[in-house]
Amino acid sequence: MADYDVIVIGSGPGGYVCAIRCAQLGLKTACVEGRDTLGGTCLNIGCIPSKALLHASHQVHEAEHNFAKMGISVPKPKIDWKAMLAYKDEVIGQNTKGIEFLFKKNKIDWLKGWGSIPEAGKVKVGDEVHSAKHVIIASGSEPSSLPGIEIDEETVVTSTGALALGKIPKKLAVIGAGVIGLELGSVYARLGTEVTVIEFLDGITPGADAEVARQFQKILSKQGLKFILGAAVQSVETMKTKAKVTYKLRKDDSEHTLDADTVLVATGRRPYTDGLGLAGLGVKMSERGQIETDGHYATSVKGIYAIGDAITGPMLAHKAEDEGMAVAEIIAGQAGHVNYDVIPGVIYTHPEVASVGKTEEQLKQEGHAFKAGKFSFMGNGRAKANFAADGFVKILTDAKTDRVLGAHIIGPMAGDLIHEICVAMEFGAAAEDIARTCHAHPTYSEAVREAALACGDGPIHS
Ligand code: NAI
Repeated sequence: MADYDVIVIGSGPGGYVCAIRCAQLGLKTACVEGRDTLGGTCLNIGCIPSKALLHASHQVHEAEHNFAKMGISVPKPKIDWKAMLAYKDEVIGQNTKGIEFLFKKNKIDWLKGWGSIPEAGKVKVGDEVHSAKHVIIASGSEPSSLPGIEIDEETVVTSTGALALGKIPKKLAVIGAGVIGLELGSVYARLGTEVTVIEFLDGITPGADAEVARQFQKILSKQGLKFILGAAVQSVETMKTKAKVTYKLRKDDSEHTLDADTVLVATGRRPYTDGLGLAGLGVKMSERGQIETDGHYATSVKGIYAIGDAITGPMLAHKAEDEGMAVAEIIAGQAGHVNYDVIPGVIYTHPEVASVGKTEEQLKQEGHAFKAGKFSFMGNGRAKANFAADGFVKILTDAKTDRVLGAHIIGPMAGDLIHEICVAMEFGAAAEDIARTCHAHPTYSEAVREAALACGDGPIHS
């Protein structure tokens, strides 16, 4: 008899959700985690701490820019950086302890240490070997740097170091205008840092709806972020507490340098599978270092499954969570399933940027006849009252059937608003279904309804 039905390796959003779902389905479950706390990158050094710093720095921005407009006079906010970091750590602690509580509640054993798989059906943690009918790898990802750049997590940092800097830098160079670069760049720009983002491509947020990306860049520029686009970073040289970034402009190959106190390398992440012993087991990997799986998350070795950032697809916590639930259900004999056409993406800047489904660019490339219904937050009373009228909602529908194919939002609470569209897409709804649904007034969500109306006879408030 095996010790467990399931051992999950890794307790990030993919792993811990998977373990809980397994336990709920009656499977005897353990989860291996080598960190001192549960929750993986997301809770400890990713999504959650960055949201805490985004929230705190947004309050600073509000106090400096909007309070006076509402008749509230306050002295210029003083920032106690240590206290701000302590608040962030407190938030992390609450969340990681929450997972520990959920593990106890669901009778999941936390096997403390770094796990490896000596053979199918076995997981080694420290000196102990545990047996399990099913082993699920949810080992996540790690930042990937560039050749010629040495990360020390003090002067040249990844997101990990950027969430715990010794002080607020005067000048921050961000390499990469993706999600991490823009979220953390925003945090420091709001705290008074001069932030310059260097991006290889000619626009920010690669893969995003082009119209949203253009507006987003304008808004961030107004907030003080500087952009150097079409620039390939060559190297970063560190001199005690300073750094010099050398980059080449792609248009003319000219070489330039930028001095900064801190350099944030945000050029993507790669699957983290070190030390699991996958090569010895013969687990098939892709050229990009991802674990190959079939439609049921099974690897090439019987009894071993993989989910989340370690396999193909967007590196998003919620995608990993959904895969964690699906694989648990599959192992329990149910029909676990993830709809990869309806996975939202959110950038938690201010305004937020959120998207789901196809972009206009993708639909054009596919030759799919579509309609675009757009509504600006300028026409939304609530947004105006809250100094949040920058941005718009755009819904894309099939030109013939009106079925929703995608949506792109830049504006207040975009990351929450997008889910109305996700539900609509999951149910195969038409824009008219959204337009005919009563939306409370005054809410930001009225802008979603107006964009849906714009796919038909037209919105009311524009
Ligand atoms: P990313 O892939 O989003 O962006 C990396 C950027 O770096 C790209 O725009 C790329 O063109 C640029 N780049 C690459 N090499 C360069 C060079 N030599 N010089 C200049 N620019 C260069 O990666 P990021 O922001 O590091 O995020 C990693 C992962 O984490 C992503 O998959 C992201 O979705 C996920 N994540 C998601 C969050 C969210 O959902 N809110 C928050 C943070 C991370």
